[in-house]
Amino acid sequence: MEIIFATHNKNKLKEVQSLVPESIKVISLDDLNMTNEISETGHTLADNALIKARTIFELYKKPVIADDTGLDVEALNGAPGVRSARYAGEPSNAENNMNLLLHNLQTTTNRAAHFKTIIAYIDSEGKEQLFEGRVDGSIIDERRGDKGFGYDPIFVPEGSDKTFAEMSSEEKNGISHRARALKAFSDFINK
Ligand code: IMP
Repeated sequence: MEIIFATHNKNKLKEVQSLVPESIKVISLDDLNMTNEISETGHTLADNALIKARTIFELYKKPVIADDTGLDVEALNGAPGVRSARYAGEPSNAENNMNLLLHNLQTTTNRAAHFKTIIAYIDSEGKEQLFEGRVDGSIIDERRGDKGFGYDPIFVPEGSDKTFAEMSSEEKNGISHRARALKAFSDFINK
């Protein structure tokens, strides 16, 4: 069985392939030579994951998964949330996004935040299903670490004293929002 993963990101592709049974081959948009971007115009992570999955399903009529992730900061009423990639404007820039987030948190001591990933799955018959993964933690004032991407240098997951950017990819994948959503999906597929 083949599943299309609606991504161009090779690291995400590797992560999914390592989590699903070997009988399932995960192929990316690059494998399909699909170069156009699917615009994420939804108001929620689920909307965006579904938009991507439906676009690919309509084109190829094959099982597909698509993901969308956001960082929800409690003191900012859930911002940047669905706008995490473009929080400080386009083009997406991780440094600017972190600067704006830290600026907006200057006057608050509430540092609680969580990453959430939604995975949308459409099976060969067109049936849609959503899976969620979440990791709670807090936002720190200074950047620490140079691994990972996005908001990793300022996010410390609960139960750790390291930021995501100070962890190896194995360590981060052991607890991350994306890995948890993928695990929920792979538990479903493995049944
Ligand atoms: P995407 O849906 O995976 O493309 O994620 C949207 C945005 O959320 C990214 O551009 C990053 O800003 C942020 N993000 C997603 N996952 C992570 C992560 O694991 N660490 C830090 N930031 C992330």
